[in-house]
Amino acid sequence: MSQPARLIAAKILEQVLGQHGSLSTQISKQIGEVDYDEQGLTKELCFGVCRYYPQLNSVALSLLSKPFEEKDLDLYATLLMGLYQIEHMNTPDHAAVNESVELCRQLDKDWATKLMNAVLRRYQRERDDILDNLASQPSVEFNLPKWLVKRFKKHWGDDFEQVVTATNTHPPMCIRVNQDKVSRETYQAQLTEQGTVSRETAFSDSGLYLEKAVSVTMLPDFEHGHASVQDESAQLAAMILAPEQGERVLDACAAPGGKTGHLLERAPELQLTAVELEPWRLQRIESNLERLGVQAELICADAGDTNAWWDQQAFDKILLDAPCSATGVIRRNPDIKINRKPADIDELVTIQQRILMATWQTLKPGGYLLYATCSLMPEENERQMAHFLAEQADAKECSLDTLNSALALGFGKAVSHGIQVLPTVDGQDGFYYCLLQKQA
Ligand SMILES: C[S@@+](CC[C@H](N)C(=O)[O-])C[C@H]1O[C@@H](n2cnc3c(N)ncnc32)[C@H](O)[C@@H]1O
Repeated sequence: MSQPARLIAAKILEQVLGQHGSLSTQISKQIGEVDYDEQGLTKELCFGVCRYYPQLNSVALSLLSKPFEEKDLDLYATLLMGLYQIEHMNTPDHAAVNESVELCRQLDKDWATKLMNAVLRRYQRERDDILDNLASQPSVEFNLPKWLVKRFKKHWGDDFEQVVTATNTHPPMCIRVNQDKVSRETYQAQLTEQGTVSRETAFSDSGLYLEKAVSVTMLPDFEHGHASVQDESAQLAAMILAPEQGERVLDACAAPGGKTGHLLERAPELQLTAVELEPWRLQRIESNLERLGVQAELICADAGDTNAWWDQQAFDKILLDAPCSATGVIRRNPDIKINRKPADIDELVTIQQRILMATWQTLKPGGYLLYATCSLMPEENERQMAHFLAEQADAKECSLDTLNSALALGFGKAVSHGIQVLPTVDGQDGFYYCLLQKQA
């Protein structure tokens, strides 16, 4: 039997607030319990609460005499959803309050109905004063956790406003046209014919930004692999690495396989090995490649443990799209505002370093490794590269257009090593690229 949209939204958010997995994982686990027609509301509430969490959380804490206990995070989620509906949705205020009170009952926590009612009604009455009092808190002013505000200011001083605005804005929908099957021009014409307005990406030769997001089922021949959803920044990986038929290429951290698919679209005869740590994520590569009609050797393993997966045959090229803080794509994964902690950055730097060192050993002399992250943290990017280049005498940094002279350089900022792309409101996600060559 299907469940109410708000109830499942509260349960999804309860898991996210309790640090029991990412928003996307929790949505895919639980959304099936809601009727198809109502799933949009569940998603809107979940994404919305995460997107505005720093502000909603400050407001909620100021309204409560003591925070909810760990066992009542479902109620806290209900309160945040109530505030979100009042502030950011068309739900009439009284309906937002009533729905939140009803949700306490559906959660079998009738004891909280009075509290929920009182807190939300107080917010309605005192909203302007409450917001005025909180306005100077960085997490409220910039709608980001305080530690991220500090780091963004420190690292991207001149571009701070752009980074914050882009991070808090709904991202544009960008697709990659599979030029092995159809040209970008023809595909754009097909979209226009069905009333979907698009514009070409400036730096990727296969990308189109859609004026309005649509369901993938509305994309012409999506099921036959004619297009994939992928941000323009991410599309640059395959362009920079410029795979050629027959080359042995490693995609070291591959799921969900966006870049794996792109590499194979550009050179279907590639001998591609895709390594991914998480078995359930490996399945996503499998279904993506099946839809595109391309093949790769898929291995479930820790890329940093080469004994576990490498057959000792060296690779011509490696894409290392490393696990990272994803601080360049918060707008697509807004639960990062809740779950990411400063200590994660150091931990990720160590993991990246380990995978980098290990995969470097699998590269042919003369071969290329493209290091990529969707992070805006120099520790994970230019400093990671500086450390590697200092440690690894046979590593040399190359210009990103070394393998593809047609690559339109000009995206992002040249930093001490590699290129850092900062997110823009209606354009690219935040990303980082550095191309290394192994000296013979
Ligand atoms: C940034 S994502 C890769 C995105 C992918 N390249 C794409 O374009 O679709 C990083 C991936 O690395 C995986 N991962 C994390 N640690 C890993 C490890 N030690 N070995 C292999 N994969 C790992 C994560 O599960 C995640 O799927």
